[in-house]
Order: sequence, then C-alpha cells, then structure tokens
Amino acid sequence: MKKILEIRDLKIHFNIAGGLFKPKQTVHAVDGINFDVFEGETIGIVGESGCGKSSLARGLCGLNKITSGSALFNNIDLATANSKEWNEVHKQMQFIFQDPVAALDPRMTVAEIIAEPLETLYPEMKKTAVMDKVLATMKLVGLSHNQINRYPQEFSGGQCQRIGIARALILEPKVLICDESVSALDVSIKAQIINLLQELQQKLKLTIIFISHDLGIVKHICNRILVMYLGNIMELGDKKSIYATPLHPYTQALLSAVPVANPNIEKNKQVQLLDGDLPSPLKPPQGCVFNTRCPQAIDKCHSERPQCRLINQHMVSCHILN
Ligand SMILES: Nc1ncnc2c1ncn2[C@@H]1O[C@H](COP(=O)(O)OP(=O)(O)OP(=O)(O)O)[C@@H](O)[C@H]1O
Ligand SMILES: [Mg+2]
Repeated sequence: MKKILEIRDLKIHFNIAGGLFKPKQTVHAVDGINFDVFEGETIGIVGESGCGKSSLARGLCGLNKITSGSALFNNIDLATANSKEWNEVHKQMQFIFQDPVAALDPRMTVAEIIAEPLETLYPEMKKTAVMDKVLATMKLVGLSHNQINRYPQEFSGGQCQRIGIARALILEPKVLICDESVSALDVSIKAQIINLLQELQQKLKLTIIFISHDLGIVKHICNRILVMYLGNIMELGDKKSIYATPLHPYTQALLSAVPVANPNIEKNKQVQLLDGDLPSPLKPPQGCVFNTRCPQAIDKCHSERPQCRLINQHMVSCHILN
C-alpha cells in the first residue's frame, strides 16, 4: 500500500507561561512519535484522556504548531509548511470535530456552511458551480436538498454531524481526521454516522484517521490501531492482531476493560486495573513513560526510554518483550 502520511520523531509541546515565583513549564503533549498512514486505510488512535490524541490530530491540520520532527504529506512537511502549502494540505486533508452542533456557525445557512471551504480555497469558482457541488455533497451524506436554507439549530445532532461531514467532503479530500466525531451522538445516531463514514470511505477511497475512546467502535471501523500513552506510541498493529494478542502491558490493560457481548465470557473476564493516574505531561517519567503504572516494570524501564520495535508484526515500545 502507498504511504500517504509519514510522521517522524514528531513533537508537539506547549509552553505554559510562568508567574512571579513560578517557572515556565512545558507540556509534552506529543513526545517523539513515528508512524506511517497508508492510502485507503482507517487507522484508529486510542489511549486514555490527555495522552495527546487531539494534540496530534490538531497538529496535522495546522491548528497546533508542530514543535519538532516532521510530518510529510504529499511532499509537504507540515512542520514547516507556509500558508500556501497549508492551503494545498487543507484541500486534501480535512478535520471532523467532536461536537457537531458547536462546530457549525448558527448564523449561517446549511448551504453557506458547506460552501465555505470551497469558496475560501477555490475563490475563482463560479457561484452556480459551488451550489451544484453543495447539493451533490448534501445528497452524498444523506441530507435533503430542501434543507439547504435552514440553520444548524433546526437540525438534530446527527444531522449536524452530516453537515460537518459534507463541509469536509466538498473539497474531495483524500484524508479525513475524525477526532471523537461520534462521541457526542446517541447510540443509534452514532451507528448511522459510522455506517455513513464507512460507505463514504469505500465510495471515495478515503483514508481515515479515527480518534476515539470507544474501543468497540474502533474495533468495528479500523484496519490498524495505534495506542498512545503520555505523548508516546505504546503499540501499533493490525486491528485483529492487536485485539487478539495485545503485547504491551498498557494495551492489555486498555483492552481488558472492553465489554464482551458473550455474557459467559464477560462474567469471568479479568479487568486489569491500572494503579494511579496518568502522570503529568509537564514532567513525564524518566525511562519508559508507562513505568509508574506498569505491573511488569524492570530496572531498565526506569532509566531508558524504549525504542518502538517490531515484535510479532506489532510495533511496540517495551523493554520487557522480546
Ligand atoms: N493548547 C494547549 N495548551 C497547553 N496544554 C495543552 C493544549 N492542548 C492540549 N494540552 C495538554 O496536552 C495534553 C494532551 O491533550 P490532548 O487534548 O491532546 O489529549 P487527548 O488524548 O485528546 O485527551 P481526550 O481523550 O480527553 O480528548 C493534556 O495534558 C492537555 O492538557
Ligand atoms: Mg481529545
């Protein structure tokens, strides 16, 4: 498969201003990660709250500044891209936000909202051509053409997310980044939007970076899974293999909490609880960032940061595996 995005030693840090007796501090939100995204795949990014998923996604869209490293997309390095290059990137890589209602401007009609990216990035395009494209895209995502002059507050959450998807798709992007894009929706609407995304992916040959807390949905929709912890990649591999034989102690703990549909298995299942909270990204632990909560940590885990290496077809950052 062809690589569409190549991420190398990517860091996204945030500086927090100090005060009178407080020194400046740095949040290590994404702290040196390496992975590739392949054309046509859906890659799921999972990990507990605060591990850096959104910081990474926002960095790939230009909403967060990349501190160092590189993210190569279509021969453009997103770490150093200028505004002209970002315009090219935005034509091909679009973002779908978590809260569908908040993401839409209540003063704009559906037509204006969906047309906006096209009018911004292709200012020479004729009004009639824009309108034709708006109508075609609305049809694609299951919105009726007679809703074109209505405002977002007249729609349900699920319909608003369809408007958000139409707004992203009108540019015919190659890559969609979905950051918790279905988390705010209720169960049946969530299923509809997931099915819509899957249908669109097949039809338009989209590549999707799908960020979610819901490991059940990630299992359903993704081809590969990337597990993050405190700004680092813990494990990356094929979906089936990650769910069947997770190698990293963190992935094992994360997946042990996923409910199983079979009540007999669910009843006897051992959930591996992790001790303590996620350490602060202001001061990540020395060595392996997971060492403070890892039940299997050895001396080396406290002194040396493990490299991500290939073990049984998974990329894993762990000293204890071989
Ligand atoms: N603009 C910012 N300024 C300072 N710190 C930030 C900023 N954005 C994110 N952070 C911090 O970076 C860390 C990673 O946050 P991020 O939002 O990427 O996590 P997440 O994995 O998306 O979490 P969640 O699952 O809750 O959405 C957190 O400690 C967060 O407080
Ligand atoms: Mg987030």
